[in-house]
Amino acid sequence: MANNRTFTMIKPDAIAAGNAGAIIQKITKSGFKIVALKMTRLTPEKASEFYAVHQGKSFYDKLVKFMSRGPIIAAVLEKNNAVEDFRALIGSTNPDEAAEGTIRNLYATDVTENAVHGSDSDENAAIESQFYFSNEEIVSYD
Ligand code: GTP
Ligand code: MG
Repeated sequence: MANNRTFTMIKPDAIAAGNAGAIIQKITKSGFKIVALKMTRLTPEKASEFYAVHQGKSFYDKLVKFMSRGPIIAAVLEKNNAVEDFRALIGSTNPDEAAEGTIRNLYATDVTENAVHGSDSDENAAIESQFYFSNEEIVSYD
């Protein structure tokens, strides 16, 4: 499969705990190339918009509050089979179920404060990347 892209956020819990550097290192050592990177902070409105697909679910308000409570790091990553391989690297949503050595196994606190986001499809990876980055902010290594 040709190189393709996924989108990630290092969530406020991981930044506050000082784990951002270790997480970025794990991502790059696992073969992902960073093609865009930004530290920013979501307003509650932007967090609601990003996770709009979960509107109406029991955990939605808590999720929006959590995602807007501190800075996040957003990044676009490139690798063969990027979406699937990155989901494998981060592990299950609930860290109690995340495989040994995955980012959520190592750095998540619970099912809400789970350290990282990873896109769940190529289509959503493109939508989520555009949510944060213009085309000019995505670099080429060629
Ligand atoms: P993301 O990569 O952040 O999208 O997580 P995910 O794809 O593994 O899970 P999903 O998209 O279903 O949920 C988005 C986020 O909502 C999760 O990462 C959690 O922070 C939160 N969340 C999901 N399910 C639950 C739940 O059952 N309880 C609580 N409290 N939070 C949840
Ligand atoms: Mg998701």
